[in-house]
Amino acid sequence: MLIFTVGDVVSDSGIRLLEKTLRPFKKLKGIHFTIVNAENASGMGLVPEQADRIYNAGADLITLGNHAFSRREMLSYVEDQPYILRPENYTHYNPGKGHGVYVAENGQQLAVICLIGRVFMQNQAENPFFIADRVIQKLDAKIKCVEIHGEATSEKSALAWYLDGRVSVVYGTHTHVQTADERILPKGTGYISDIGMTGPVDSVLGMDPETSVERLLGVPQIKYKPASGACMLQGALFEVDDNTGRCLSVERIRLS
Ligand SMILES: [Fe+2]
Repeated sequence: MLIFTVGDVVSDSGIRLLEKTLRPFKKLKGIHFTIVNAENASGMGLVPEQADRIYNAGADLITLGNHAFSRREMLSYVEDQPYILRPENYTHYNPGKGHGVYVAENGQQLAVICLIGRVFMQNQAENPFFIADRVIQKLDAKIKCVEIHGEATSEKSALAWYLDGRVSVVYGTHTHVQTADERILPKGTGYISDIGMTGPVDSVLGMDPETSVERLLGVPQIKYKPASGACMLQGALFEVDDNTGRCLSVERIRLS
């Protein structure tokens, strides 16, 4: 099975690039299942109309992270929409779910688990290692993908080693910076610390550089705004053996 994971979509221009490039790329590569992190489609959070555009662009599943509920509209949307995951290790006060079993285009099942990190992250999430243990135990799909939405490469990498051989893929999101550490771990889990971002190239993580600098200089009353200009789509492509669930290859993707 070929699984394509797309890095955090930022702003309307990121969605527009996805609309232009995702379907042709899926066709070119013969991709069977596509997971798109979209929690920054509105800068902070996303709204149902944007989620619908992302599905229409070719996403099979949307994942969220620390901005899952930055927009109120998502509180009810995640209850009704089965193809969206918020972090599994969020407490039970959060609506929606953090894992699911889906059928890919080749007819094979795959399980996806969305987790959020706790190192350098401000959240009340439960320990992602223990939650992963609990969820993986009850899933019998041969192919299992884990997204870890987190700031620290150390935490994401440690989780991948912890789950090596028990899941097919572990990949990171959230930093918006693609890492060059893609590999297959000794027991067959494909891994990359961060798959990157889908949004404006000349930016600070998708945001306008000038306002980002001003905020850090201490200028008062400066709000982030999305950057303009050309966009890139970043992600990773994982090939997984249908019979064993082991990852066969990991490829970093950057389209512009
Ligand atoms: Fe995030």
